[in-house]
Amino acid sequence: METLWKVSNLWKIYEVKGEFKKEKIYALKKINLEIFKGEIFGLVGESGSGKTTLGKALIRLIEIDKGNIWFKNIEITKLSEKELRKYRKKFQIIFQDPYKSLNPRLPCGYTIMEGMEGSKKEKLEKAFEILNMIGIKKERFYDYPHQFSGGERQRIAIGRALSTEPEFIVCDEPTSNLDVSIQGQILNLFLDLKEKFNLTYLFITHNLKIIKFLADRVGVMLNGEIVEIGKTEEIFENPKHPYTQKLLESEI
Ligand SMILES: Nc1ncnc2c1ncn2[C@@H]1O[C@H](COP(=O)(O)OP(=O)(O)OP(=O)(O)O)[C@@H](O)[C@H]1O
Ligand SMILES: [Mg+2]
Repeated sequence: METLWKVSNLWKIYEVKGEFKKEKIYALKKINLEIFKGEIFGLVGESGSGKTTLGKALIRLIEIDKGNIWFKNIEITKLSEKELRKYRKKFQIIFQDPYKSLNPRLPCGYTIMEGMEGSKKEKLEKAFEILNMIGIKKERFYDYPHQFSGGERQRIAIGRALSTEPEFIVCDEPTSNLDVSIQGQILNLFLDLKEKFNLTYLFITHNLKIIKFLADRVGVMLNGEIVEIGKTEEIFENPKHPYTQKLLESEI
């Protein structure tokens, strides 16, 4: 198996103004992690445990305080802004709230075209292709984000992420705002697209059913640390860390 990401002794510390003095929040502590090409790596853990911070740190949407992150053989943490630009398109992130990545004043077709390269004609053709893949009718090319349902909006955010031909996508609770029936459709879309484009996902969710359905391996986070990591079936059958055991019990 090819290693896509390797993370070694990663730390992220936020400083916040406390009542009397500055306080430190240890959002990530000594994280070691490997993500293999083509897998869905699930990340679970309670609110505030550092899941989003880890996702953002990987693709350098935030700077880290200590540690190393390699994407293939490239040490992402060492790249200059200019060098990083070459890699930016390979990484995407999809949030719980699709509005975060959609421009309210841009028709959805243009939103999908925005990150593309090529002539206008090529971009248009590709945007229509993507609309078709994400299940949005081509007649809706000129409609704005607010004219779509929540599920459709998330499809458009996914389409926008695909437009740069990424290799890796951080999916940060992408279905948590949606009805259960719509959730299923979107999860299946993620699976289809992964096969089609040979993608790798870091899939963050509170929902263990989603992890069971989707993830090849799973990491369990607690207070900024990954306390357990393993194949999904193994973690579900034989959780070793007391926190994982508690998490699985509370789900049943
Ligand atoms: N920009 C920031 N400034 C200060 N503290 C932050 C910042 N971003 C996150 N934190 C803190 O870092 C910790 C980890 O936050 P993070 O958002 O990664 O958690 P999470 O596991 O994604 O939680 P949730 O499940 O609620 O999304 C929390 O204590 C949070 O308050
Ligand atoms: Mg989060």
